[in-house]
Amino acid sequence: MPPLTDQPLPPPAATALDLIGRTPMLELTGFDTGPCRLFVKLESANPGGSIKDRVARSMIEAAEKDGSLRPGGTIVEATAGNTGLGLAQVGLLKGYKLLLVVPDKMAREKIQHLRAMGVDVRITRSDVGKGHPEYYQDMAKAIAAKLNDAVYINQFSNPANPKAHETTTGPEILEQMEGDVDAVVVGVGSGGTLTGLGRFFAKASPKTKMVLADPVGSILAPLIERGEKVEPGAWVVEGIGEDFIPDNCDLDLVAKAYEISDTESIATARLLLTKAGILGGSSSGTLLAGALRYCRDQTEPKRVVTLVCDTGSRYLSKVYNDSWVAEQGLVDRQLHGDLRDLIARTPGDAVTVGPGDTLLTAYNRMRQADVSQLPVIDDGRLIGLIDESDLLEAVEDRRQDARFRQPVSTAMTAKLHTLQAGEQLDSLLPIFERDEVAIVMEGKEFLGLITRIDLINYLRKAA
Ligand SMILES: Cc1ncc(COP(=O)(O)O)c(C=O)c1O
Repeated sequence: MPPLTDQPLPPPAATALDLIGRTPMLELTGFDTGPCRLFVKLESANPGGSIKDRVARSMIEAAEKDGSLRPGGTIVEATAGNTGLGLAQVGLLKGYKLLLVVPDKMAREKIQHLRAMGVDVRITRSDVGKGHPEYYQDMAKAIAAKLNDAVYINQFSNPANPKAHETTTGPEILEQMEGDVDAVVVGVGSGGTLTGLGRFFAKASPKTKMVLADPVGSILAPLIERGEKVEPGAWVVEGIGEDFIPDNCDLDLVAKAYEISDTESIATARLLLTKAGILGGSSSGTLLAGALRYCRDQTEPKRVVTLVCDTGSRYLSKVYNDSWVAEQGLVDRQLHGDLRDLIARTPGDAVTVGPGDTLLTAYNRMRQADVSQLPVIDDGRLIGLIDESDLLEAVEDRRQDARFRQPVSTAMTAKLHTLQAGEQLDSLLPIFERDEVAIVMEGKEFLGLITRIDLINYLRKAA
């Protein structure tokens, strides 16, 4: 095989700690960047999969140095996930125990990853604010105070957080851009990235402007752009956006802020994957969308950098899952003002079985798609429905060894109560009361199913 590059490869690292930082950078082409050139720094290439490995190492080493973290001690933190993964990545290699308080809106892949590393994960509410005992930061602080030999790392106030970016991320960006950077587009979670990079560039490259990409619902962009104090809203992008101004967040460093909707963030994250082959997290979509807007707003050529803060592999069940995106109302979908708007899986992406498929196939499809019932389609026509109770009834007799090999037609319910698409929402309630799912038709054509959770999702979006 010919060498991949003329550059010498680095020698093997002694520990995964040595693989933190020195992340690659990529120029994005094929995007509408107006007169500008746009570059992304792939923080997803850190061993823990996110930018937070850098701050985790810096904060742990600062706590070791000041004596607040002693050998075998416990690190406690309130985290949206990535800081926790970074702390686990670094902390476990250094022999510490980890206890993390995580708000309940976070992607399940992050929680699975943390639990796989042996972290004590405490899930808490994401619908309460600062000052409430179940607010994730208040809860972490209270837990740390009760434990022996525990340190509350507190990324929101810990000076070692911005320091990591001031001393590593910033100098790397400037070196990779050969000393010529006009703007860096960042998000704010704790403010560490903004403040650390802002401080570095103010000294090392004063022409470099800091630009904020902020989710709609966060209080930061309205404050910066219009001096407006808004009530915090809700957003699905993870890791960025704030309902308060953290101590580590120096908003004076921001030259311009953009508000990015969840719909735009998700569409842009998907574009980053399909156009550039980079699987980034939800916030990468926000940052890229903000960076593209900044680029297009320029009249002179500029060199702009943004970050892919974490890997999208931890958002496969969300950002890259069509059903989830549709359920959240995060696609520009044509609305009809009738029952069709509640169907999560349209015929094109519905999971179905045929009458001749085995019960094992039906079972596998239910498991795989995480659904409790499947429409049975024969020759394009709906002829039945098979749900978990039909399946259980057909397979419960253990003396029969062919039970999972029986065809779906023997177990399905063929007597179906259907609704027409134009019917009112109220027509769903008697169906759910009978413990059935609603089968929605347009004339004789099957459009899809509506379950209780689809109605709840719909009502939640309308709230
Ligand atoms: C997933 C994620 N977490 C955190 C951050 C930034 O965090 P902080 O403000 O804590 O440095 C970003 C920044 O874009 C991010 O994308």
